[in-house]
Amino acid sequence: MIKKEIAKMLNDQINLELHSGYLYLEFANYYEEKSLSGFAHWFNAQAVEEYEHAMKIREFLNDCGVRVTFSPIGDTIKEFDDIKGPLHEALKHEQFVTKSIYKIYEKALELNDHLTANFLQWFIEEQGEEETTAQLNIDKAKLVGTGGPALYMLDKEMGRREG
Ligand code: FEO
Repeated sequence: MIKKEIAKMLNDQINLELHSGYLYLEFANYYEEKSLSGFAHWFNAQAVEEYEHAMKIREFLNDCGVRVTFSPIGDTIKEFDDIKGPLHEALKHEQFVTKSIYKIYEKALELNDHLTANFLQWFIEEQGEEETTAQLNIDKAKLVGTGGPALYMLDKEMGRREG
Protein backbone atom coordinates (compact mmCIF):
# COMPACT_ATOMS: atom_id res chain seq x y z
CA MET A 1 0.00 0.00 0.00
CA ILE A 2 1.46 3.33 -1.06
CA LYS A 3 1.83 5.88 1.75
CA LYS A 4 -0.08 9.16 1.54
CA GLU A 5 3.11 11.20 1.71
CA ILE A 6 4.59 9.37 -1.27
CA ALA A 7 1.35 9.55 -3.24
CA LYS A 8 1.30 13.33 -2.73
CA MET A 9 4.92 13.66 -3.88
CA LEU A 10 4.23 11.61 -6.99
CA ASN A 11 1.09 13.60 -7.72
CA ASP A 12 3.15 16.80 -7.48
CA GLN A 13 5.72 15.23 -9.80
CA ILE A 14 2.99 14.81 -12.44
CA ASN A 15 2.49 18.58 -12.31
CA LEU A 16 6.23 19.17 -12.59
CA GLU A 17 6.47 16.91 -15.67
CA LEU A 18 3.53 18.70 -17.31
CA HIS A 19 5.15 22.01 -16.44
CA SER A 20 8.36 20.80 -18.09
CA GLY A 21 6.42 20.10 -21.28
CA TYR A 22 4.76 23.52 -21.13
CA LEU A 23 8.16 25.16 -20.69
CA TYR A 24 9.62 23.29 -23.65
CA LEU A 25 6.71 24.21 -25.89
CA GLU A 26 7.47 27.83 -25.01
CA PHE A 27 11.10 27.31 -26.00
CA ALA A 28 9.85 25.87 -29.30
CA ASN A 29 7.74 29.01 -29.79
CA TYR A 30 10.88 31.11 -29.33
CA TYR A 31 12.88 29.10 -31.85
CA GLU A 32 10.06 29.18 -34.38
CA GLU A 33 10.18 32.96 -34.24
CA LYS A 34 13.95 32.83 -34.84
CA SER A 35 13.38 30.60 -37.91
CA LEU A 36 15.23 27.76 -36.17
CA SER A 37 12.61 25.13 -36.88
CA GLY A 38 15.01 22.27 -36.05
CA PHE A 39 15.48 23.56 -32.51
CA ALA A 40 11.72 24.08 -32.30
CA HIS A 41 11.13 20.51 -33.46
CA TRP A 42 13.57 19.23 -30.84
CA PHE A 43 11.72 20.99 -28.02
CA ASN A 44 8.32 19.97 -29.35
CA ALA A 45 9.50 16.36 -29.24
CA GLN A 46 10.85 16.90 -25.71
CA ALA A 47 7.47 18.28 -24.63
CA VAL A 48 5.80 15.08 -25.85
CA GLU A 49 8.29 13.07 -23.77
CA GLU A 50 7.45 15.11 -20.69
CA TYR A 51 3.76 14.43 -21.22
CA GLU A 52 4.59 10.71 -21.39
CA HIS A 53 6.53 10.97 -18.12
CA ALA A 54 3.50 12.57 -16.47
CA MET A 55 1.22 9.83 -17.79
CA LYS A 56 3.59 7.11 -16.59
CA ILE A 57 3.35 8.42 -13.02
CA ARG A 58 -0.40 8.89 -13.34
CA GLU A 59 -0.79 5.27 -14.41
CA PHE A 60 1.38 4.09 -11.51
CA LEU A 61 -0.77 5.99 -9.01
CA ASN A 62 -3.93 4.69 -10.67
CA ASP A 63 -2.61 1.14 -10.35
CA CYS A 64 -1.92 1.83 -6.66
CA GLY A 65 -5.55 2.86 -6.21
CA VAL A 66 -4.68 6.52 -5.67
CA ARG A 67 -6.96 9.24 -6.99
CA VAL A 68 -4.81 11.60 -9.09
CA THR A 69 -5.67 15.31 -9.05
CA PHE A 70 -4.31 18.11 -11.23
CA SER A 71 -3.20 21.59 -10.15
CA PRO A 72 -2.54 24.72 -12.21
CA ILE A 73 0.61 24.56 -14.31
CA GLY A 74 3.31 27.15 -13.59
CA ASP A 75 4.44 29.95 -15.86
CA THR A 76 7.11 29.73 -18.55
CA ILE A 77 10.29 31.67 -19.40
CA LYS A 78 9.82 33.75 -22.52
CA GLU A 79 12.80 36.10 -22.92
CA PHE A 80 16.38 35.06 -23.58
CA ASP A 81 19.65 36.87 -24.27
CA ASP A 82 20.48 34.68 -27.25
CA ILE A 83 19.61 31.33 -28.82
CA LYS A 84 21.62 29.47 -26.19
CA GLY A 85 19.31 30.83 -23.47
CA PRO A 86 16.63 28.12 -23.65
CA LEU A 87 19.32 25.43 -23.73
CA HIS A 88 20.79 26.71 -20.46
CA GLU A 89 17.30 26.97 -18.95
CA ALA A 90 16.55 23.41 -20.07
CA LEU A 91 19.63 22.07 -18.28
CA LYS A 92 18.79 24.01 -15.12
CA HIS A 93 15.25 22.73 -15.25
CA GLU A 94 16.30 19.11 -15.74
CA GLN A 95 18.67 19.38 -12.77
CA PHE A 96 15.72 20.60 -10.72
CA VAL A 97 13.55 17.69 -11.92
CA THR A 98 16.32 15.23 -11.04
CA LYS A 99 16.48 16.61 -7.49
CA SER A 100 12.72 16.21 -7.18
CA ILE A 101 12.86 12.57 -8.34
CA TYR A 102 15.72 11.88 -5.90
CA LYS A 103 13.68 13.32 -3.03
CA ILE A 104 10.77 10.99 -3.75
CA TYR A 105 13.14 8.06 -4.16
CA GLU A 106 14.85 8.79 -0.84
CA LYS A 107 11.51 9.16 0.93
CA ALA A 108 10.33 5.85 -0.58
CA LEU A 109 13.43 4.10 0.76
CA GLU A 110 12.99 5.75 4.16
CA LEU A 111 9.41 4.44 4.34
CA ASN A 112 10.32 0.98 2.99
CA ASP A 113 8.17 1.59 -0.08
CA HIS A 114 10.17 -0.62 -2.43
CA LEU A 115 7.49 -0.66 -5.10
CA THR A 116 7.78 3.11 -5.58
CA ALA A 117 11.57 3.01 -5.27
CA ASN A 118 11.66 0.36 -7.99
CA PHE A 119 9.27 2.36 -10.18
CA LEU A 120 11.50 5.43 -9.84
CA GLN A 121 14.60 3.62 -11.09
CA TRP A 122 13.45 4.26 -14.66
CA PHE A 123 13.13 7.98 -13.95
CA ILE A 124 16.55 8.15 -12.33
CA GLU A 125 18.14 6.72 -15.48
CA GLU A 126 16.03 8.93 -17.70
CA GLN A 127 17.10 12.05 -15.78
CA GLY A 128 20.74 11.07 -16.19
CA GLU A 129 20.21 10.88 -19.96
CA GLU A 130 18.24 14.11 -20.08
CA GLU A 131 20.91 16.07 -18.24
CA THR A 132 23.61 14.67 -20.53
CA THR A 133 21.62 15.61 -23.64
CA ALA A 134 20.84 19.08 -22.30
CA GLN A 135 24.55 19.69 -21.68
CA LEU A 136 25.43 18.34 -25.12
CA ASN A 137 22.99 20.77 -26.75
CA ILE A 138 24.71 23.67 -24.96
CA ASP A 139 28.15 22.45 -26.01
CA LYS A 140 27.12 22.16 -29.66
CA ALA A 141 25.51 25.59 -29.65
CA LYS A 142 28.70 27.07 -28.17
CA LEU A 143 30.73 25.49 -30.95
CA VAL A 144 28.62 26.95 -33.73
CA GLY A 145 28.18 30.45 -32.26
CA THR A 146 25.19 32.64 -33.04
CA GLY A 147 24.82 32.48 -36.79
CA GLY A 148 26.11 31.38 -40.14
CA PRO A 149 26.26 28.02 -41.89
CA ALA A 150 27.29 26.08 -38.77
CA LEU A 151 24.13 27.17 -36.95
CA TYR A 152 22.10 26.27 -40.01
CA MET A 153 23.62 22.78 -39.98
CA LEU A 154 23.04 22.34 -36.25
CA ASP A 155 19.42 23.37 -36.70
CA LYS A 156 19.08 20.67 -39.40
CA GLU A 157 20.55 18.13 -36.98
CA MET A 158 18.16 19.12 -34.19
CA GLY A 159 15.32 18.76 -36.67
CA ARG A 160 16.19 15.11 -37.27
CA ARG A 161 15.27 14.08 -33.74
CA GLU A 162 12.83 11.20 -33.75
CA GLY A 163 10.62 10.76 -30.72
FE1 FEO B 1 10.58 14.35 -17.34
FE2 FEO B 1 12.76 16.07 -18.55
O1 FEO B 1 12.04 15.32 -17.02
